[in-house]
Amino acid sequence: SRQWRGVLREYADRLDISAATPIITLGEGGTPLIPAPALSARTGAKVWVKYEGMNPTGSFKDRGMTMAISKAVEHGAKAVICASTGNTSAAAAAYATHAGITSVVLVPEGKIAMGKLSQAVAHNAEILQVQGNFDDCLEIARDLADNYPVHLVNSVNPDRIAGQKTAAFEVVEVLGDAPDFHIVPVGNAGNYTAYFRGYSEDLARGATTKLPRMFGFQAAGSAPLVLGHVVKNPDTIASAIRIGNPASWKFALEAHETSNGYFGAISDKLILEAHRILSAEVGIFVEPASAISVAGLLERSDAGEIPRGATVVLTVTGHGLKDPQWALRRADGSDVQPTSVPVDTAEIANVLGLQKVP
Ligand code: F0G
Repeated sequence: SRQWRGVLREYADRLDISAATPIITLGEGGTPLIPAPALSARTGAKVWVKYEGMNPTGSFKDRGMTMAISKAVEHGAKAVICASTGNTSAAAAAYATHAGITSVVLVPEGKIAMGKLSQAVAHNAEILQVQGNFDDCLEIARDLADNYPVHLVNSVNPDRIAGQKTAAFEVVEVLGDAPDFHIVPVGNAGNYTAYFRGYSEDLARGATTKLPRMFGFQAAGSAPLVLGHVVKNPDTIASAIRIGNPASWKFALEAHETSNGYFGAISDKLILEAHRILSAEVGIFVEPASAISVAGLLERSDAGEIPRGATVVLTVTGHGLKDPQWALRRADGSDVQPTSVPVDTAEIANVLGLQKVP
C-alpha cells in the first residue's frame, strides 16, 4: 500500500509539468466516488457522488491550485492573487503558504462563508473585502495581475483548469468508462469546462467509449448561462456560485454544444431541499452550492430527461463544514434546537422512547 501522491504526481504524464516544476502539493485528489442508493431509488438511475469536499482545504479548488501554484513558483512568482467567493481563496492561501510565497485574496464584502474566510486568515493570506460582488473582484484581480508583480491564480489561468480535469480521470478509473451524465454546479464554469476536457482527453486516448452529457446548474438568481446574458446583481444563498459574468463562458458553451449538454437554474428553496436530501438520506455533508448538483438531477429526472439505468455522476464541490449554518434551519425557516436533558440515564432513555431490555 502507498499514500496517494496528489494530482500532479499521479497524473504527471497528462499535465504540462517537467523535472523543472516544483511539486507544491497537500495530497489533493483521490477523492471518493460514492454510490448514492437513495438518489438511485428516487430517479431509477445509477447515481454516484464525487465528494470533492474531501480535498485538503475542503473543495475541488485544490486540484487546480496545486497546478497553478506549482507553475507560478516554477516561473519565479513571489506573490499570487485571486478573486474569490471563498473556496479559491482558501486553496490559494494554503498552497501559497505551503510554497513559501505570499497570497492576496479579494472577496466580496460580507458575502463569503465564515469557514472559508477563516481558512484564508489561518493560512496567512492578505485579505481584502471589496465593496462589490465577485465579478468586480475578478476584474480588479486581473487588472492588478496585468500591471503589478502578482501572479493570477483564478481559473482564467489555464493551469487551474488543467489541474481540475484530473477529477474526470478519477471517475473513469472507478467506473471503467465515462458516465452517461455528469452534473456540476456552475459559477465561473471553470469546473464544467475542466471535466469536459478531462473526459475528452480520456476519449481521445481510448480510455472511454463516450463523452458524458455535461449538465451544469446555476442558482436562479445568478444564472447567466441559462439566461444568455450577464446578471448585474447576482443573488443566491449559495454564495460560492453567486457569479453574474462567468470567466469560462466561451469554453462552457463549447462543452455544452459538443457534449449535448444542458444548463439549468434552480431556486434557493430547491437547493436547500437537495442539501437536506443529500445530508439526511445519503450521508454526505456539503455546502449549499454543491447541493445544486442533487437538485439538478432531481429536476431533470422529474422532467423525464434521465433514462432508467443511466449512469450519473454528481460532483459535490465543497464540504458542509465550510458553511454549516444551513443544516440548523428547517424547511419552514425555524431554527433547530437540540432537546436539553438532565444528567440522568433513565430520563434520557424516557425522552428517547426506549424501553429497558429485560
Ligand atoms: N462549487 C463551489 C463550492 C465553488 O466554490 C465554486 C466556485 C463552484 C461550485 C463553481 O465552480 O466557478 O468553476 O463554475 N467557487 C469560486 C471561488 C468562484 O472563488 O471559490 P466554477
